[in-house]
Amino acid sequence: MRVLVTGAGGQLGRDLVAALGGSVPEGGRRRALRGPGAPLVPSGLDVVAADHAALAVDDRTAVLGALDALRPAVVVHAGAWTDVDACEADPDRAFRVNAMGTRHVAEAAARVGAHLVYVSTDYVFDGTSHRPYVEWDHPNPLSVYGRSKYGGELECPPGATVVRTSWLCGAHGANMVRTALRLAAARGPLRFVDDQHGSPTFTADLAAAIVTLATDRLPGVFHVTNAGATTWFGFVRAVLELAGHDPGRVEPIATAELRPPRPAPRPANSVLDNAALRLAGIPPLPDWRDGLERLVRVLGPRA
Ligand SMILES: NC(=O)c1ccc[n+]([C@@H]2O[C@H](COP(=O)([O-])OP(=O)(O)OC[C@H]3O[C@@H](n4cnc5c(N)ncnc54)[C@H](OP(=O)(O)O)[C@@H]3O)[C@@H](O)[C@H]2O)c1
Repeated sequence: MRVLVTGAGGQLGRDLVAALGGSVPEGGRRRALRGPGAPLVPSGLDVVAADHAALAVDDRTAVLGALDALRPAVVVHAGAWTDVDACEADPDRAFRVNAMGTRHVAEAAARVGAHLVYVSTDYVFDGTSHRPYVEWDHPNPLSVYGRSKYGGELECPPGATVVRTSWLCGAHGANMVRTALRLAAARGPLRFVDDQHGSPTFTADLAAAIVTLATDRLPGVFHVTNAGATTWFGFVRAVLELAGHDPGRVEPIATAELRPPRPAPRPANSVLDNAALRLAGIPPLPDWRDGLERLVRVLGPRA
């Protein structure tokens, strides 16, 4: 079974490719798009790792051409413009990549009969709910990024798998764990907001769950996050504690106190109930503290 991963050079993309049994070559990025004849990996999956340089999803001709040549059975579409604040200043770019890009991937996948798995976000919700969101709650994104990613959801055909996830952290990207470890190594207090609630999710755990959903071609929306929830303040305290720093250095602040204010509004509560996974009998992801412990071990105390 050939699986093509878009955005394969990203934080999640790299762990997805690894979970599928492949690797993203360093340097010579175009070689990452491996064509027919690439060796089958032992799992029986033939992974095509398409990073941004190899395949820009906002280039319709390129997307149609690549899928026509490669004929994957499954496309895991993880490529996106993920700079949430920058999206506010350039909505056309956000929609071109995140919404139209997904339209192109969906069109190309349909032409070759490939199953589509689209990776979406907790930021499709407005955060006003006082309980975790289930898959059947109504999206109402606050930010351009959230609207553009929801646009991508609307481009997915009924049989596609839509995976909404949140607060991603992994070994290969810029994320809150790395930021916290960097700040902890310097002097001074660390101030993090205590009024945004979410579920930190570790890309290695998420990638494994996506492989299950993708290879089983399960249709519909799935919330897939590590179990448990916290605030950014609580999360950074846990990072410092696990890395052997003093968690007492972390001070809680309100989002309204951030200076300068962040351009993109964030939902106050974006905890996702993984209801569809549970109801489908698929094992839940481990607690976020478990994933964090593993990631801090990999990154070391001064990542
Ligand atoms: N990070 C989070 O907290 C979070 C939360 C919920 C959902 N998600 C979703 O999860 C997925 C993976 O996110 P991530 O954290 O791994 O982000 P990431 O590290 O930024 O990965 C996204 C990848 O997409 C690539 N990309 C950007 N524009 C593209 C284009 N036009 N065509 C093809 N690829 C393009 C980027 O390449 P360049 O960097 O070279 O441009 C990057 O390698 C995304 O769909 C994101 O929306 C992320």
